[in-house]
Amino acid sequence: MLGRIYDAIDKRLTIKKTIRDQLNHPVLEHVNPLKHPRAFVYCFGGITAFIIVLMFLTGLFMLVYYIPSPDHAYDSVQYIMNNVTMGWLVQGIHFWGATAVVVMIVLHMLRVYFHGAYKNPRELNWVVGILLLLIVLGFSFTGYLLPWTQRSYWATSVGTSMISLVPFVGDYLLKLVRGGAEIGAPTLLRFFAIHIGFLPLMLVLLLGAHFFIVRRQGISRPF
Ligand code: HEM
Repeated sequence: MLGRIYDAIDKRLTIKKTIRDQLNHPVLEHVNPLKHPRAFVYCFGGITAFIIVLMFLTGLFMLVYYIPSPDHAYDSVQYIMNNVTMGWLVQGIHFWGATAVVVMIVLHMLRVYFHGAYKNPRELNWVVGILLLLIVLGFSFTGYLLPWTQRSYWATSVGTSMISLVPFVGDYLLKLVRGGAEIGAPTLLRFFAIHIGFLPLMLVLLLGAHFFIVRRQGISRPF
């Protein structure tokens, strides 16, 4: 029954062929770790993407319990860690994944840099990569406040206060980011909205562009 529905859809949209064409894409020898032991450096981008998928999934599960208000944020995270089934694992993956993703991006960038893969014709993908890096750092910065601990409160206090040093518009920008003069409920809600709304949307769009360009241009040749 399901097979017939699938066949009927496939007849109209040729999904099977599209997927087969994508999977049949040949992997060049110099990026295949089974053929070249040092080719594992080409996996750093893929590992980054894998961790990002994990961050999306674990983040989605935590959204079920997390409450973005100063009265409940800390307790809701404690609840996830101590009371929710497997909550400690989901929260742990999200917490350690945040560090791992930055480490993997840096390794990926070093790989691209030392192979000279940022050069013509891949400059645009380097620029897209820099934007991706900024977005991931944005995730780290906004996510740090969400558990609403002393540490996250003061880290965000110091981090945001630097904005006031921007000439002329510094104080205005500081208020815009904090949602007021001090860090409080509006800051938490603002950071939450950026963390789960704006940044994921931009990340997905830019990742789509990044992968599209990699596929179009093919991976760079060996030295
Ligand atoms: C969210 C972060 C990122 C993800 C998930 C990601 C993923 C990938 C993947 C899977 C590839 C193809 C395989 C590989 O070379 O590893 C790739 C290629 C590439 N990436 Fe990234 N990347 C990210 C960030 C960056 C950053 C920060 C830069 C540089 C500033 C960058 C620049 C490039 C370039 C230039 C290529 C083409 C390399 C070549 O053809 O040899 N990427 N990326």
